Amino acid sequence: MKTYRIACIPGDGIGKEVVPAGETVLRALSDAGAGFRFEFSSFDWGGDYYRLHGVMMPDDGLDALRPMDAILFGSAGDPDIPDHVTLWGLRLKICQGFDQYANVRPTRILPGIDAPLKRCTPAQLDWVIVRENSEGEYSGVGGRVHQGHPIEVATDVSMMTRAGVERIMRFAFRLARERPRKQLTVVTKSNAQRHAMVMWDEIAVQVSGEFPDVKWDKELVDACTARMVNRPASLDTLVATNLHADILSDLAAALAGSLGIAPTGNIDPERRYPSMFEPIHGSAFDIMGKGLANPVGTFWSCVMLLDHLGEREAAARLMRAIESVTADASLHTRDLGGTAATAAVTEAVCRRLQS
Ligand code: IPM
Ligand code: MG
Repeated sequence: MKTYRIACIPGDGIGKEVVPAGETVLRALSDAGAGFRFEFSSFDWGGDYYRLHGVMMPDDGLDALRPMDAILFGSAGDPDIPDHVTLWGLRLKICQGFDQYANVRPTRILPGIDAPLKRCTPAQLDWVIVRENSEGEYSGVGGRVHQGHPIEVATDVSMMTRAGVERIMRFAFRLARERPRKQLTVVTKSNAQRHAMVMWDEIAVQVSGEFPDVKWDKELVDACTARMVNRPASLDTLVATNLHADILSDLAAALAGSLGIAPTGNIDPERRYPSMFEPIHGSAFDIMGKGLANPVGTFWSCVMLLDHLGEREAAARLMRAIESVTADASLHTRDLGGTAATAAVTEAVCRRLQS
């Protein structure tokens, strides 16, 4: 039987609760006759590891992940360690080390979810945000001089390369073409940012030539926020820079009902390295360790993981189980206005997979 090797990295905060829940659900799926099995390896990297060893993950950590088929990630962030240390020491180290340059963030209003856009039906909000995940505002280029002095200077340079922009545009056009509406919105800010974003726009025009069957338009990022609220049905697939897409995807998740539901995949489309799947919610220190976290964002990320492995049927089966659980309000966690615990939602999804 086909065996997939999955690395589990719970990381910090509620990651330690939702990643084991994801593992449980994936196990239930393979036990229910999916026709393949999983071999999980868990890695204790993150804030606790940092306290013991002074680093978020070992220097040769990527070597341990390399042979894996995929990575299921929780979150990086610790109340006692600066955010840039936890982020760069773990998640970005993996994303950049494995050149997972496409970050894919689907958004839908799942059955039973009380989304705040009252004039919008679930059929009118079905988006995928493609986030450039390897450069731009997160390239790490910059520095600080005269630290602590009145003349202190600090810069973060948004680096855009032609190769980097071309590959994410091509990925986004390809993804848009696979979706029923074949429609892409290129998010930009070339009115104010006169160099990198102008090149971004030019490359969009150039790459669009390879996809005559995809209908596309351009939208400024600020106007895009208003359009997401006022005309959600006018959007389908979106492509945006690292920071723009980070912000837009939180808005998207909130408009679809909760940040706790939203999934993401950090993908190396060329499959040179394992891709990494995670909920977008982060560590949520306020509820960590209490068993209250919504595991749906992790489960939906597992659907993306299965799709990436080519297990379309198992992915669809897990998605149906998730949707039948969200449809039941008694299984809603606190972020959705309910009282259900992480464990109850996990059990309910497993039960539906068995039947
Ligand atoms: C996300 C998150 C992260 C990001 C944070 C935790 C640094 O917000 O995945 O959207 O900005 O990349
Ligand atoms: Mg974010």
